[in-house]
Amino acid sequence: MSRALCSLADLGATGAKEIVLTKDGARYPVFVIKDDAGVRAFENICPHVRLPLNAAEDVFFDVTRTILVCVNHGAHFDPVTGVCLRGPCKGERLRAFPVTLDGDAVVMG
Ligand code: FES
Repeated sequence: MSRALCSLADLGATGAKEIVLTKDGARYPVFVIKDDAGVRAFENICPHVRLPLNAAEDVFFDVTRTILVCVNHGAHFDPVTGVCLRGPCKGERLRAFPVTLDGDAVVMG
């Protein structure tokens, strides 16, 4: 069974949307992104010191929308793989959640 997370329209302004997943009483901060490679979702916790990547709502991409940036200490992440390409956690990766498109809806699975 798929679970809708957000719509494509939610991603229009910044290319990303913050949401909170809940499972068995636990809350998981997640952000969904869309770019030319499609839609993906990552836990909004930086592998460096486990802080949220963003300071401004729904802002995760750099100005070119080709890199995800952690505002805390400047780590750069590949938006396809979630791997840190530059910064204090180079080589580590964001936790990814499987998502697909179902029409205009981004769904888990
Ligand atoms: S918490 Fe993300 S780079 Fe330090």
